[in-house]
Amino acid sequence: MSSSEASLTGQALLDKIRDDFIGLNTAYKNARGEISPRIYLDSTASSLMLRPAYKVISDFMAHYSNTHSKLHHSAHISTAAYEWAHKRVLDFLGAPSDIYTCFFTGAGTTAGINRMARVFRDFNLDKKIAIISIMEHHSNDLPHRKHMHKVIHIPVEGLEESHMCISMTRLENTLKENKGNVNYVSITAVSNVTGIINPIHNIARLAHKYGALIMIDGAQSVAHLPTTMFHPDDPDACIDALVFSGHKTYTPGSPGVVVARKDLLLGIEPEEVGGGMVDRVLEDRYLVKTKFPDREEAGTPNIPGAIGLAATIEVLGRIGMELLMKAEDEVMVKALNEMAAIPELIVYGGTDHKACPRAASISFNIRGMDHGLVAAILNDYFNIAVRNQCFCAHPYVKEMMVKDLEKDFGAIDFGNMSPEFMRKAGMVRASFGLYSKQKDVEILISAIRQIIAEADDFAQYYVINEENDYQHVSFRPRHAEIFNIQSSLDQYLAEAND
Ligand SMILES: Cc1ncc(COP(=O)(O)O)c(C=O)c1O
Repeated sequence: MSSSEASLTGQALLDKIRDDFIGLNTAYKNARGEISPRIYLDSTASSLMLRPAYKVISDFMAHYSNTHSKLHHSAHISTAAYEWAHKRVLDFLGAPSDIYTCFFTGAGTTAGINRMARVFRDFNLDKKIAIISIMEHHSNDLPHRKHMHKVIHIPVEGLEESHMCISMTRLENTLKENKGNVNYVSITAVSNVTGIINPIHNIARLAHKYGALIMIDGAQSVAHLPTTMFHPDDPDACIDALVFSGHKTYTPGSPGVVVARKDLLLGIEPEEVGGGMVDRVLEDRYLVKTKFPDREEAGTPNIPGAIGLAATIEVLGRIGMELLMKAEDEVMVKALNEMAAIPELIVYGGTDHKACPRAASISFNIRGMDHGLVAAILNDYFNIAVRNQCFCAHPYVKEMMVKDLEKDFGAIDFGNMSPEFMRKAGMVRASFGLYSKQKDVEILISAIRQIIAEADDFAQYYVINEENDYQHVSFRPRHAEIFNIQSSLDQYLAEAND
């Protein structure tokens, strides 16, 4: 960051930063032979890189050293920067360091949830049940199925049915019915399918009321919403553990992050053992460090990634998450309202933003068109990058689509699905980030309208390939010519030679 950028905060920094992401100017040739800028609406999968974070990583590289080394200059610099990264994350999430620790693990949220499921299980071996919801990403579902004795999925139903929100009544009833046996509740703060925001503190209060712990999957929330884990005046609202992904927080290449209560971790030997987390190793025993976060981070960590992520978080913190949320909301709500007004579109989840607040993601289908065809046309003709299929959230997507699918296919055998069924069973997801603009929404809406108006014309140019995906009959961009590791390297080496 330049020194003038450093002095910016709030709206002024937001205005500057929104255009300061790597990849906003990426352009590709479309099926009409025109070169146009890519409209990146796949931020929920992975967000673009914040340029100041990239710069910090690049500056840091001159000093890179393993943090397990101790006494040379670079080791001091690396260690101090890495420590700062942990501290910055704790501050950002309102998690005081006397109660919580932060550790980096794996490449995203998945590793952290697996880890914490085992920690919670072992912390209270007598309580064998985990409660999750059906709106969870598989990464906040399968780890609990694997590591816990029993998992109960809370449905979306009742009054909230049309919104596809978690049924708080069912959650409370389930907690009540299983009182004494529920180890923890693990819920996403924001759905990666509908973008629906869950009331995590109300969920925490319920979990705690019935003696359970609370884990939050923050993969889709940390970059978009203000988060405060610790509430001294309302202890039941506190979050026991929260996990998120750096690559969804404007820092591709950065690790997954766990912020958890230290006391939960302390009684249990860390799952991963190795260098860096022990004080002493003898032939017949070893002494695990009591110092956090060292004891939780066996082996050499992803130091540059963590430092880049902390730089991003510093920038987000200087803008202020309330302001940032408001700015993103304007783009989201415009998209939601305009999409809800198109009769040929099915928009999944409640579309009244006040009754059913959302962040970042909108999933939809064009009636009568396969999700894969729509996603391919958006890419090939309009240069709009979206995701399609089921977004690693099969139970939730199924819940929202099952009635329509049964109309077309009759009773469904989910264990044996035909290729034709698979082409229908899914959605298109447009997802937004800090860099998304009103103009991007206008381009998306105009593209959707054009696809609806000219559906047959577009469809005639597509065939289904052996992977059951839609493929244009003649537009076959040579992606290896657009980016190629060897060419990139050769170009550098040639320039270095000049
Ligand atoms: C809500 C949610 N949880 C967990 C994950 C898994 O994150 P990662 O792929 O970074 O491990 C995702 C990824 O899309 C997600 O959206």
